Amino acid sequence: MRDAYDLVIRGGAIVDGTGAPSRPGDVAVRDGRIAAVGNLVQGAGAAAEIDASGLVVSPGFIDVHCHDDIALINIPGVEFKTAQGVATLVCGNCGLGAAPANEQFRQFYARGTEGVLGPVEEFTWRSHREFYDTVRAAKPSANAAFLAAHGTIRIAVMGLDRGPPSDEQMAVMKEHVREAMDAGAVGLSSGLIYVPGTFARTEELIELARVVEKYGGLYVSHIRNEGSGLLDAVAEAIHIGEEAGVPVQLSHHKASGEANFGLTEQSLPLIDEARARGVGVTMDAYPYVAASTALVAIARGGRLAPGLDPHDVLIASVKHQHEYEGKRVDEIASMMDLPVEDAVQRLLREEENTPVAVMFVMDEVDVRRVLQHPQCMIGSDGLPSPTGKPHPRLYGTFPRVLGRYVREEGLLSLEEGVRRMTSLPAQTFKLTDRGEVREGYWADLVVFDPAAIIDTGTYEDPRQYPRGISSVLVNGQLVVVDGSPRQVGAGQVLARG
Ligand code: CU
Ligand code: ZN
Repeated sequence: MRDAYDLVIRGGAIVDGTGAPSRPGDVAVRDGRIAAVGNLVQGAGAAAEIDASGLVVSPGFIDVHCHDDIALINIPGVEFKTAQGVATLVCGNCGLGAAPANEQFRQFYARGTEGVLGPVEEFTWRSHREFYDTVRAAKPSANAAFLAAHGTIRIAVMGLDRGPPSDEQMAVMKEHVREAMDAGAVGLSSGLIYVPGTFARTEELIELARVVEKYGGLYVSHIRNEGSGLLDAVAEAIHIGEEAGVPVQLSHHKASGEANFGLTEQSLPLIDEARARGVGVTMDAYPYVAASTALVAIARGGRLAPGLDPHDVLIASVKHQHEYEGKRVDEIASMMDLPVEDAVQRLLREEENTPVAVMFVMDEVDVRRVLQHPQCMIGSDGLPSPTGKPHPRLYGTFPRVLGRYVREEGLLSLEEGVRRMTSLPAQTFKLTDRGEVREGYWADLVVFDPAAIIDTGTYEDPRQYPRGISSVLVNGQLVVVDGSPRQVGAGQVLARG
């Protein structure tokens, strides 16, 4: 006879994801779902048991800001995420996606995007639907949801045209957004500091967001300016959502550059005011004072963006000359025996625009202020480079929030920290039956030690799994056992609920 349950996690403190106080209890899993929560009698008939005494049992974390679109195919174990307790990846952020992969986009990809998303062996897909099928076939360990990416769609339709789209181009772009939404995308993302997002006017984004509105999706934006123009850029994003009638998610909310430290004190009230008017504005953040992005985005023509000190910019990864990885730009300039601007120019040229940089541009006070906001989710923004020294957020974001900011600093309660990683993102991105420890929900679960959980990676040595997370389940299957991630094809491609 078959056991009543496939697995019982026994005797843990259940932090259910809603923000409710933790309570002792057992969690039973059957056929990929949570079959029972509460005090289950011993010997209830489980094929396997996990002893969770002294440990917390929570929903699997949802990383709302991922760039793992291609990594899901290249590295289907996505161990750097599952080891953190992440069960679901929301990909396609910052206007950067993998579809529609027409010839124009493929060429653009090879000229730089590759540095951020990773190498594509062969573009075997074109449409969003075909891409999602490709991810499914790769059997990733984690679930994945996707945003239609404005920049990718614009490249595919308009190449590098700076002007506004013609009526015909707009119609084709809308058709691509529709195709993505029909295939299950959760919304539309934009990256307005990147080419070609920089070329898009507000009206273009409103019109595309209107397509998403018909489907109940949201608009997610890496806004136009995170430095001195932060407040205007937040206002633009809110305006786009308000005009199109869609909720807005502000990506990796921050105030960048020393001259702008403290600006989040003014940006967060803009969010609160919009919410009071009925606009669904939310945000995500990662718990570090360093940012990371493509070098070309912060150093057009070799000149670093205003206010960026070359010593504050670290080269994380490159394609060919790996001796530059982990070095700061001023060091690289002296290695090359060139002025900084010429050195950056040469690096971009020789590395075909692929270098990824880590920039120390934030103030801890702003980071904390944003993390404390009740509408702030956790998004790693990790860039899954196969080489070099990626920003440690790729491996450490979630355990760092729970270890450093929850346990050590008491910035948030444990229940509230978990809510921001689970039910809040599930509701915002419409991921049905996820984000809570609740009977009938999918069995995405994490078992961790609240007294030990912590990130261990550093900027010098970022590829380190965290401590304190013993088991992670995705759709009822164990993808982390005794703290070690393993590749199991447990993930699903999630469609907007
Ligand atoms: Cu991003
Ligand atoms: Zn971004």
